[in-house]
Amino acid sequence: MRYAFVLTAFLSLCLPVAIAADPRYCEGKTTLNDKDFTLKESADNVHLPVLAKYFKSKGKNVSVTAVLESANRALSKGSPSVGNGSPVEAWAWNSGDDNTKDWVPQGITSSADAFGKGTWNDHNVWIVSWYRDKDSVRLSFVDRKTHKYRHVMLVYPTADDDFISIAIHAGGIMWYGNVLYVVDTKVGIRAFDLDNIWEIEIADGVGKTKDGKGYSADGYLYVLPQIRYYKWTAGDASPFRFSWVSLDRSDSPDTLMVGEFVRQGEKFPNTKTPVPIRYVKYDLDATTRRLHTDDKGIATASWAHCVNIVNVQGAFSYEKTFYISRSTGKAPKSGDLFTWEQGKTAKEHKGWFMAGNEDLSFNPVRKEYYTVTEYDSDRYILAYKV
Ligand SMILES: *[C@@H]1O[C@H](CO)[C@@H](O)[C@H](O)[C@H]1NC(C)=O
Repeated sequence: MRYAFVLTAFLSLCLPVAIAADPRYCEGKTTLNDKDFTLKESADNVHLPVLAKYFKSKGKNVSVTAVLESANRALSKGSPSVGNGSPVEAWAWNSGDDNTKDWVPQGITSSADAFGKGTWNDHNVWIVSWYRDKDSVRLSFVDRKTHKYRHVMLVYPTADDDFISIAIHAGGIMWYGNVLYVVDTKVGIRAFDLDNIWEIEIADGVGKTKDGKGYSADGYLYVLPQIRYYKWTAGDASPFRFSWVSLDRSDSPDTLMVGEFVRQGEKFPNTKTPVPIRYVKYDLDATTRRLHTDDKGIATASWAHCVNIVNVQGAFSYEKTFYISRSTGKAPKSGDLFTWEQGKTAKEHKGWFMAGNEDLSFNPVRKEYYTVTEYDSDRYILAYKV
């Protein structure tokens, strides 16, 4: 054993590509060095304030409450082929959203992420993200009292008078005060400003309309602009998959956790190096609603760990217990829940979720957690009691 170790160490010194030596990888490790996990905060988008001024002048800067009050679609009580976890609530989308093959739901967050009291301006709210392949992301703002909802498109301001859609997977979302965090798989985390939701024309195309007199977003009434992003700093040499995101209000300060979706046996291309599966937490600043950064704009992880469970679509932690959502494919398959505490073996609850379980979000006020299921004609928002 000792000889083999020395030989490996010797080889990795000689070989020009010592990919397995990356300290961020998991081979043989559980805890990782927090300092190795850094994100760089971008400057704020310079076009956003100019556009904001324009929409305000037209009386078209609207609030989250106004979006909820303008809801034009309704959820209905669903009776899905649930797993053995027995949700306390199951809500189906309207038939168009349930059946569409264009849009796929992925991420979920609630007003209990936004504020510790659990509500946004007295509304109990869910936000769900949907992606349209290589094209755009929309959000559903759901009012849990009326069970009505309204879609809002995510946009990126590209000029003082234009914006484009955002072509990411949006595998997880997290709402913190006036900021909505959305994971961008290969890049990092994007942040959107909920103090700026703009009402636009209902027309085709995204951005400035052809006549130059207004704005549109593929027929949706509202857009939510990106304000900044947090970029993985290690580049392609040491990628991190930003697959999901969640909030932990039981950490002090509050933390944002991101994690990686990795398939069974996945290796980096042309290597024998297994793709690591890591969960990383960053401290949040409850005043600015940003990640805590140093004076150079670098956010350094407060916790980083390897968690060897494949196909994880979402997870959250609360008071040191982690809840982990693993998918296994379409029905009749079902999804699994794991509960885990650091230093212990994860406990598997096989078949807990119906097929298609995705991101997770916890609500400490109602002692509930949420997921969405992704497969067309079998899509629900599910709530479970802890
Ligand atoms: C737009 O409205 C929000 C309230 O929803 C407010 O916080 C924000 O300051 C407004 N933006 C501008 C540019 O007035």
